[in-house]
Amino acid sequence: MAKMWAGLTSGLTEKIADDFNSSIKVDSRMYKQDILGSMAHASMLGAKNIISKQDADKLIDGLDGILTDIESGKLEIDYSAEDIHMFVEQVLTERLGDVGKKLHTARSRNDQVALDTRMYLKDCTDQIVLKIKDLLEAILFKAEEHKCSIMPGYTHLQRAQPITFGHHLMAYAMMLYRDIQRFLDAKKRINVSPIGCCALAGTTYETDREMEAKLLGFDEIALNSIDGVSDRDFCIEFSSNCATLMMHLSRLSEEILLWTSWEFKFVELSDAFTTGSSIMPQKKNSDMAELVRGKTGRVYGNLMSILTMLKGLPLAYNKDMQEDKEGVFDSFDTVKMCLEVLAPMIKSMKVLEENMLLASQKGFINATDLADYMVKKGMPFRSAYKIVGKIVSDCIKDGKVLETLTLDEYKKYDQIFDNDLFKEISLKTCVEKRISKGGTSPKSVEEQIAFIKEKIQNV
Ligand code: ARG
Repeated sequence: MAKMWAGLTSGLTEKIADDFNSSIKVDSRMYKQDILGSMAHASMLGAKNIISKQDADKLIDGLDGILTDIESGKLEIDYSAEDIHMFVEQVLTERLGDVGKKLHTARSRNDQVALDTRMYLKDCTDQIVLKIKDLLEAILFKAEEHKCSIMPGYTHLQRAQPITFGHHLMAYAMMLYRDIQRFLDAKKRINVSPIGCCALAGTTYETDREMEAKLLGFDEIALNSIDGVSDRDFCIEFSSNCATLMMHLSRLSEEILLWTSWEFKFVELSDAFTTGSSIMPQKKNSDMAELVRGKTGRVYGNLMSILTMLKGLPLAYNKDMQEDKEGVFDSFDTVKMCLEVLAPMIKSMKVLEENMLLASQKGFINATDLADYMVKKGMPFRSAYKIVGKIVSDCIKDGKVLETLTLDEYKKYDQIFDNDLFKEISLKTCVEKRISKGGTSPKSVEEQIAFIKEKIQNV
């Protein structure tokens, strides 16, 4: 195909150079944004009499036809084209003749590609936010169901204090809510229109950049044309938000993997989200969770690759920047799929409350509560801590737990102990009494659920 940019050069390039140069396999997914951007551009050119109103209408109709034909499958994208911008313009010119050649007045592919990417990422942001909301809803549903289910809370992966499963899940809800906020905040900076910056320096035509921005739903326009075509901070922020989100999903996945192991057996996943082994008939593997954890690596990699690609670039546009989209799109696809698989997986998982309770009874996780009991009777915390430490160490030697020692046995350690201690160290009391704001009590979990529900209802 003859190059539209043939001018100074013959445009007679080697096939290998064309293949190397082409980005259409990656950027063709922005066909809609490209066409809508061009339609707005044509309207503006017409409104400002840079081209005639009739020509503008012809361009808009022609572009609309291309959009319809791509969507219906009538027009196939030619993957030998250089990029989606060239492809659309080429087809337009084939269909309209000379009028088609007027579209590229007062613009450049440099502002065009920045525009398309911003429009595309705005849409991706909305999609991700909705998918995070779906996952949040699954988590809220489970948290509500298990706001009273007792499990061991861990630090250093050692049993620490009793918590409720609902409380544990709500920790993830808080992370995901922050992810939503991060994506929405970054969207403000994506929502700045670069169209009209042209190649790098603006244009001599009397364009109306605000009109174009408004037509395309942008809140602002880029106020420095060099920055408008060179800025990819918005891609970095988007990639970074995807990486943070994946980090959260990966931590959740790791816990699901632990919980579904025979060693824990706190949770059982539905068959619909597990796999078997080709050789070991007893296996039920949590592959989906492992894949989420594994895919986190590539999303981190995408962030690192765009940061590195940009770090040494002089202003303004350089072809290196064509490399921005592949990683960003991959992060979007990956994050989206991970969210889509996790939401129903969490919603359908079976929580094995009895096993969680059993595990909670074995690890002296009420030792802090025993010390607190003594403190409330007047003993300084450090002294109480020491005595409880001794009791626990004796229990371990004798194969006992705090609940099974008799009052007489307790009294041997200190006279402060009384019959009310047993109620105080029951796991149910331990969680119910943790009423401090944000604590593990069922009441606090309810408050957390209500908070997140309210926050996400309008996003
Ligand atoms: N395919 C290019 C990209 O993705 C479009 C911009 C090309 N601009 C240029 N001056 N060659 O970055």
